[in-house]
Amino acid sequence: MSEVVVLGSLNLDIVVASPRFPKAGETIMGQDLAYFVGGKGANQAVAAARQGISTILLGKVGHDHADQILTTLAKEHLDLSHIHVEPDYPTGTAIITQAHDDNTIIVVPGANSQCDVSYVNNQQGLLTATKVLLGQLEIPIEALKTAFRLTKAAQGLTILNPAPYRKEVLELLADVDYLTPNETEFAELVAHFREPGDVETDLLFLSDLLTTQLIVTRGALGVSLVVNQQVKTIPAHKVTVQDTTGAGDTFNGILAAYLAQGADLLEAVELAAIGASLSVEKLGAQVGMPTKELLDSARKNGK
Ligand code: RIB
Ligand code: NA
Repeated sequence: MSEVVVLGSLNLDIVVASPRFPKAGETIMGQDLAYFVGGKGANQAVAAARQGISTILLGKVGHDHADQILTTLAKEHLDLSHIHVEPDYPTGTAIITQAHDDNTIIVVPGANSQCDVSYVNNQQGLLTATKVLLGQLEIPIEALKTAFRLTKAAQGLTILNPAPYRKEVLELLADVDYLTPNETEFAELVAHFREPGDVETDLLFLSDLLTTQLIVTRGALGVSLVVNQQVKTIPAHKVTVQDTTGAGDTFNGILAAYLAQGADLLEAVELAAIGASLSVEKLGAQVGMPTKELLDSARKNGK
């Protein structure tokens, strides 16, 4: 039995470091080009596995880059044996522009689009045995619904990172214990109910309305959640930003890892926030993700 199952995308990330974002119709010169293994599913699984937690990654990869991606991921303490290689689809690809402390990402799903209900149904045994299921929105929504229903019905804990945002997230909420939007995704969620205002007020408003616990990741501002009917914000640690890609994934993977171990929510959130801030110091979504040892020492040093 695994402690964490991550269901989601595997991508090839093509990262361009640039002095700024181009305007529409404009050509500018970039500084650097690099290829990384990414995808929110793979990233979150790596973040969890680096905490020494037994982690299974479920998803699909295309025929074209399967070897490269699986070889890279095999260096982690991660169960990849249930990942399918799709013979007729290319691997999901993300075109990422990193400029200063921000990025833009365009994802072309490829094989991730085939991560469907029938694939999920075949993983039923794993989904009902896991302590924690963690998902994101880069695979078909029906597949996520099935998986979350299975794990929830078996008393597992479920975490959904609603990225990239889709309105269908509402259809999933009944089976989601923790929802982890960033500020943009949170505003989109609020907009289903009323005009978004400031995060604190909206958090209190939605906490009254939903049974799902909301955890809003706010970049340099930290992480906000409602505890005992009050908004608590855990401040972010100050770091030198190289690449913000994967910061949210690091947060989610570490959160899942510590909740699976039975940590209390605030402690898990605090550790996940420290991990996310460490991750942005290196280029590449998975490159800066801390091991358990690094995270422990950063926490001790108050980094
Ligand atoms: O969250 C970062 C990830 O989003 C990247 O690795 C990219 O593949 C996209 O899925
Ligand atoms: Na990084």
